[in-house]
Amino acid sequence: MSGLSSRHLLGLESVPREDISMILDATETFREVLDRTIKKLPTLRGITVLNLFYEPSTRTRISFELAEKRLSADTVNFTTSTSSVKKGESLRDTVQNIEAMKIDMAVVRHSSSGVPYFLTQCMDANIINAGDGAHEHPTQALLDMFTIRRKYKKLDGLRVVLVGDVMHSRVIRSNIWGLKTMGASVALCGPSTLLPYDVEKFDCDVYTNMDEALEGADVVNIMRIQLERQQAGLFPSQREYTNLFGMNKERLRHLNRNYTIMHPGPMNRGVEISSEVADSDNAVILDQVTNGQAVRMAVLYLLSGRKEEGQ
Ligand code: CP
Repeated sequence: MSGLSSRHLLGLESVPREDISMILDATETFREVLDRTIKKLPTLRGITVLNLFYEPSTRTRISFELAEKRLSADTVNFTTSTSSVKKGESLRDTVQNIEAMKIDMAVVRHSSSGVPYFLTQCMDANIINAGDGAHEHPTQALLDMFTIRRKYKKLDGLRVVLVGDVMHSRVIRSNIWGLKTMGASVALCGPSTLLPYDVEKFDCDVYTNMDEALEGADVVNIMRIQLERQQAGLFPSQREYTNLFGMNKERLRHLNRNYTIMHPGPMNRGVEISSEVADSDNAVILDQVTNGQAVRMAVLYLLSGRKEEGQ
């Protein structure tokens, strides 16, 4: 029986420190399995997992699917383009019909915030949020924290700067909640037009000047800038964003000696991050991807079998 306090993972905002530590500790074990020749465990034999992706994904979708397979679960992949959603079937009808085929757990990505919570109200399966609108992307933040903890052997006291679209980024939101719970010092940096009006609710240092934000940082986690935001008039041009907020070699001088560069992907090379920085020795972008699979194995393992309790 898992010791997690919830049978779903919808976000990190209200996840206690003990739960995050338990997931990160379990991830250590599964990360070690990924370095073996035979990367397969019987842990989820007999469990059926639905991967419900209503929005495009490369890393999250493939790493969840691989995590499930490594744990010997049966997996079902749902994509809207080949489903009866195209004939107008509602989300509720879709998931209830799939669950009628005996699903135990569901991993969901959707462009609308709150869909994972909605699924907890109409399904019995354990629900894992794989990114919902501008709300949260908890497994991304867990893999980011695991990657940082693996390098520094701690999270407590590290200065982590999250750069990008603070208003719309679910990755930033989940990182804020998770990192603060684990005792890191979190700074946010982005154009003032991409900061939420109530940014102070996050209780983080907030910067609109990248060079000031980076001063003394251990970790910089750089978010993809969505080009739609420019069309919506939230920043004037890609070139201006790159000049003011792009992570380049010149800006590395502000960071602490043993600094780390992170990006959740997909990257716009030459926009929010230069190729020189993305491919440098201190960048752990591909380690994040490998660690993501181990984090997802840990989350699936710790939530599986949690049926009888409430939220
Ligand atoms: N980081 C991340 O969520 O990437 P994908 O959109 O490819 O899953």
